[in-house]
Amino acid sequence: MKKIQISPSILSADFSQLGKEIKKLEEGGADLIHVDVMDGHFVPNLTIGPPVIKVLRNYTKLPFDVHLMISPVHKYIKNFAEAGSDIITIHPEATKNLEESIVLIKKLNKKVGVSLNPNTEINVIESQLNNIDLVLIMSVFPGFGGQKFIPETIKKIKDLKEIKDKNNYSFDIEVDGGINFSNSKDVVDAGANILVSGTTIFKENNGDIKKNIETLKSV
Ligand code: DX5
Ligand code: ZN
Repeated sequence: MKKIQISPSILSADFSQLGKEIKKLEEGGADLIHVDVMDGHFVPNLTIGPPVIKVLRNYTKLPFDVHLMISPVHKYIKNFAEAGSDIITIHPEATKNLEESIVLIKKLNKKVGVSLNPNTEINVIESQLNNIDLVLIMSVFPGFGGQKFIPETIKKIKDLKEIKDKNNYSFDIEVDGGINFSNSKDVVDAGANILVSGTTIFKENNGDIKKNIETLKSV
């Protein structure tokens, strides 16, 4: 049984202290750092790009789990790889040729993730499942932290886990959006092994990051 990993989203961190916040996440027991990149085009919000990732790289050895909510994405993949991303996750709708973008990420020696929005079916990426390291299932419509978990996501996680087990695929199942202390067990029981969380980790228990990460891990 794979242990549960926690990938806190820095979207909910104090953007004026991102380096220090990342150190607090590492000290608090985070397994990865989830970096939400938004372009104001693929999603109605704008965050950070390669220059910021490059400087944040010096603050931790933890893997940067970079979620690219940008389109077109293909021409920026190399920039994010060179900035220090470890996992590069893209949305199928953001590239003209998903397979080509996957091949490029692997050629750059990075782990490759593909993300499914709540309204994107698993069959859109089924042909690529044996080529990727991670499927990021969105349990909110991407763009903002602090949104409510979409309950239909549980069935999608179960369906994906069934396909994974039936074909003996090895990709991780990461779930992203509205994860909290009351839904995390259902998400893990459905088949997820990596949980993304921003609001719960930074805001619950008066912002006790270590306690919040431990609570999510102990489902
Ligand atoms: C939303 C991002 C998520 C979000 C998670 O577009 O992809 O990673 O920041 O934040 P919470 O945990 O607050 O929903
Ligand atoms: Zn994300």
